[in-house]
Amino acid sequence: MIDFELNDKMVQSAADPSSRLLDVLRKDFGLLGPKEGCGEGECGACAVLIDGKLINSCLVAIGSLSGAKVMTIEGYQRTKRYEVLENTFAKAGAVQCGFCTPGMIMAAEALLTRNQNPTLEEIREAISGNLCRCTGYNMIVAAIKMAASEGEGLW
Ligand code: FES
Ligand code: FES
Repeated sequence: MIDFELNDKMVQSAADPSSRLLDVLRKDFGLLGPKEGCGEGECGACAVLIDGKLINSCLVAIGSLSGAKVMTIEGYQRTKRYEVLENTFAKAGAVQCGFCTPGMIMAAEALLTRNQNPTLEEIREAISGNLCRCTGYNMIVAAIKMAASEGEGLW
């Protein structure tokens, strides 16, 4: 049994310790926000926060997570900071098909937690591991910049 915190609640997983966190989240916990894109750590569609760090869940074995704090978009959706990002992503037209969006939002959260007033360059760098086939990235960068000012004081 692996005990860890998932979206602010203690949970247990009986999965094989070598199972990918992405599969455990989706299949065992029904959390479908993290998506499988590449399955190889290259696209960021499966990104979650582990102990506050942005991590691709397709690369993490559940057995390594004993005592860790895992946050997926489902847990993050309950925060005020999410509301700000949801709003600015909508205003900037940063969501098209939506496949990359949960990972992008988690990347934005990780960035804004460590840097409340990022430059456009820093935002580009922070989402450089997250692929988007639809938006050309400019709208996503604009949305995160807008969130930094509209959510001032929240991060
Ligand atoms: S599915 Fe994990 S990084 Fe692409
Ligand atoms: S909105 Fe479609 S992949 Fe980003």
